[in-house]
Amino acid sequence: MLGALVASHAAATVLPIVPFPASVEAATGAPVRLATGARILVPRGDVSALRTARWLASLARQSRGLGLAPTTRGGASARVVLRRRAGPADSEAYDLTVAHGQIVISASSDAGLLYGAVTLWQLMSAEEGRGPVSLAPVHVADQPRFAWRGMLLDSARHFQSPGFIERALDWMALHKLNVLQWHLTDDQGWRLPIAGYPRLTGVGAWRIPASVGAPPRDPRTGRPPLYGGVYAPGEIRAIVAHARARNITIVPEIEMPGHAVAALLAYPELSAGPPPPRSVQSDWGILPYAYGVDEHVFAFLDQVLGQVIALFPSRIIAIGGDEVPLDIWKASPAVQARMKALGIADETGLQNYFIRRIEAYLAAHGRRAIGWEEILKGGPLPPGAIVASWQGAASALTAARAGHDVVIAIAPTLYFDNRQGVLPSEPPGRGTVVSLKNVYELDPGAPPLPAPGPVSAASPPAAAFSSADRAHILGLQGNMWSEHIRTDDRMAMMMFPRAAAVAEAGWTPQSERAWPDFLARMPAEFARFRSVGLAEDSSVFAVEIAAEPAGAAAARITLANQTGYGQIRYSLTGAEPDAASPVYSEPWSVPLPSRIAAASFDGSRRISPVVRESLDAQSIRRRVSQQLDLCPGGLPLGLEGSAPAGQPRAVMLVEVMNLCWMWRDVDLAGVRGVKLEVGAIPFNLQIGADLARIVRRPSTHSGMEMQVRLDGCEGELLTALPLGPARPGLSELSAALPPRPGRHSLCFAVAGDSTDPIWGLNAVQLVAGKGS
Ligand code: ACM
Repeated sequence: MLGALVASHAAATVLPIVPFPASVEAATGAPVRLATGARILVPRGDVSALRTARWLASLARQSRGLGLAPTTRGGASARVVLRRRAGPADSEAYDLTVAHGQIVISASSDAGLLYGAVTLWQLMSAEEGRGPVSLAPVHVADQPRFAWRGMLLDSARHFQSPGFIERALDWMALHKLNVLQWHLTDDQGWRLPIAGYPRLTGVGAWRIPASVGAPPRDPRTGRPPLYGGVYAPGEIRAIVAHARARNITIVPEIEMPGHAVAALLAYPELSAGPPPPRSVQSDWGILPYAYGVDEHVFAFLDQVLGQVIALFPSRIIAIGGDEVPLDIWKASPAVQARMKALGIADETGLQNYFIRRIEAYLAAHGRRAIGWEEILKGGPLPPGAIVASWQGAASALTAARAGHDVVIAIAPTLYFDNRQGVLPSEPPGRGTVVSLKNVYELDPGAPPLPAPGPVSAASPPAAAFSSADRAHILGLQGNMWSEHIRTDDRMAMMMFPRAAAVAEAGWTPQSERAWPDFLARMPAEFARFRSVGLAEDSSVFAVEIAAEPAGAAAARITLANQTGYGQIRYSLTGAEPDAASPVYSEPWSVPLPSRIAAASFDGSRRISPVVRESLDAQSIRRRVSQQLDLCPGGLPLGLEGSAPAGQPRAVMLVEVMNLCWMWRDVDLAGVRGVKLEVGAIPFNLQIGADLARIVRRPSTHSGMEMQVRLDGCEGELLTALPLGPARPGLSELSAALPPRPGRHSLCFAVAGDSTDPIWGLNAVQLVAGKGS
C-alpha cells in the first residue's frame, strides 16, 4: 500500500505513478482488462490524439508485449478512449477514469491527452510481466503544480548523439517533464550551424582532448584525433519536432558574453581583450575571454539569435549571462573607450547594457530571454526577462521582488553532474553526493534561503518567499552539465532516477509529496525504465559491502544500501542471491577466504544489481579512493585517469585543492608494507586565482611523491614514494612501513611543486607481514 498518498481512499491500491497525480480516487466496480487487440479510440481527424495513441500502443508493446490498436471508429467497444473536452488549449490537465469496462482519458489539450496516456501506461506497467493486464477502477484528476519542469542538457562540453537526445526526450515525457534547456555553445564547443559563419562549427566544434603529456597521434594523419560534433539543421528540426510531439519545449541556449571561446577563436574579431587561443580548449572552468561590446559584435549575435529563433519555436531563448570575466573588459582599451562613450560607470554596468541589448533584440522578435542569475547585476532589466537561480535561492527572491519570473536550478542539489552515491561504481562527476532523496526533498516553491545573519541597516533580515514572490517561480530544472559525462550511457545514468524526483517536485502538490511514498514507487519505476531501454544509476538500492579484518582468518561484513529500503539478501556460495537467500540483519563474521554476493529485494523482486566480492586477507586490507575520506578543500571530483587507447580508465575521487586521502581507524597490527595504485590525470581545469589556494606540500626529494603519514596529514612520515614520470594508466608503488601496531589513521598525501598532472590515488593495499 502506498501510505499517506492514497490511504485516505477506501480501496487504496499500489499506484506507482511518477509524478504522483494531484488527485487519485479509487472507484468501485470490476477491473478493466487490457489485452492484445484492445482498441484505443481517438476522435476522427485528431492528428495529435492519434499520435499519442500510437505512442501508447508502442509503449504497451515494449513493456508488456501487448498489441493495442489505435482507431477512429467503433466507440462503444473500444477499451481506451481519448476524448477532447472543452477548455484551454495550453492546459496540461487531464482526467483518467477506469470504470465500467472502459478507460477514458479526457483533456482539452494535446499535452493533457499525452499525459493521460502516460499515466495509463504507468498503471499498465505497475507490475512487471508480459501479457494482458487488469486495471482496478480509479479516477485520476491531474494537473501540474508548476509550468516549468525542466532539464538542462549540456551538449557543448560533451556531444550527445541526436538519437540519444530523442530517447532522453521520451524518458522526460514519460515523467511529464516539459522543458529541455539545450546548452549548445560554450568555451569548449559550438554545436549549432549558423549560415554565414561556417567557422563557428568548422573550427569551434572540434578540440584536442586533454591528455597526460603530449596528445596521442592518429598514425594515418600524424595529428591528434579531434573530439567534437555538430547538430545538422535537419537533426535539430527532427529533435524539435520530436520534443513538440512529447509536449517538450526546447529552449536553446547561446552563451554570452563569457563562456564563448569556441566562437571567439572562430571569429577573433568578436573578442574583447587578448586574442583567444588558437584552438578550442579542453580545459573546464571559467576561461578568461569574453565577447567585445562593439556594434559588430551585437550584429553578429543578432544574426545568430535570428537564426536560432527561426529554428526553435520556443517563446523563451536562453542567453547564458553567467560567470562573465569582467577583468577582460577592465583590461581592454577598446571596451573601456566604448564604456566611456556610452556613459557607463563600470564593467558591471556594461554587463547590464550587454544583456539589455540582447533582451531587447529577443523582445522585438516576440521572444523572452532567460539568463543565469548574474543577469540581475549592474542595473535593472525589463521584467520579461527570466532568471535561472543557480548559486542559491537568494537570487530567486531578488529576481521575484524585481518582478522577474524565476526557474529554480540551484547547485548542488539540481546540478546532476554531481555523483549520486558513494559506491566505486559511480561514473565520473563532481564529488558532492546529490542523492535521489536530496533532489526529492527540494520544494521549488520554498527553496532554502541562507540563514539570517545579524540584522543591520546594510543587511536587512533574510526574507522568506511571500505568495507574491512565489507566483514568479515558474518551476525547477535539473542541470546535466557534461564536463565529466563523456558518453550517452553515463548521461542517462546521471539523469535518472533524479529526473523523476525533479518531475514530482515540479508536478505534484507539495502536500501530497513524501519521500517514503516516492521511494516505495521506485522499484516499479526502475522496472519500467528497463522496459524502455533506460539504464538508470543504481545508487538508491545498490548494496555496499564493507569488510574489516576480524581476528586471524575472518572478516566482519556490513551490508547496506543508500536508502535502507527493502531487504538485503546474500549468498556465500557464489550463487546469485534470490528471494530464498538469507536476509541480512546485522554485521557478522565470515571465514577467509569467502565469496559474497548481495542484492536488495522488495519482497521477492530483486531491485538492485548483484554485487560480488572475493574476500581474502589481501582484499579486506584494500581500499579504493571512494572508500577513503578526502581531505577538506572544496573541489572534490570523480575524475577518470588516462589509459592507453581502448583500455578502461579508472575513476578516482580526488580533492583537487588538497590532494590527500585519509583511511581512518585502521588496524595496523602486523602491517609491514603498503602498495599504492596511482594515476595521472590532466589538470585541465581553469580555476583562476584559486590556483594559488591549492595546498602544496614539500617533497622529500626533487620530484613529486606520495607520502604516507600516521594519525593525520601532518603526522609522522612513514614513507615517501616517488611518483615518477606521468604516463597513461595506473602505476603500482610499494614500500615497507615501520611497525606501528594499534588502530590509527593513515594519510596519503601528494607532495611536490607541480599541479599538473593531478595525481590520483586509485587504491591502497596494506601488506601484512609473515606470521602476523
Ligand atoms: C553555471 O553553473 N555557471 C550556471
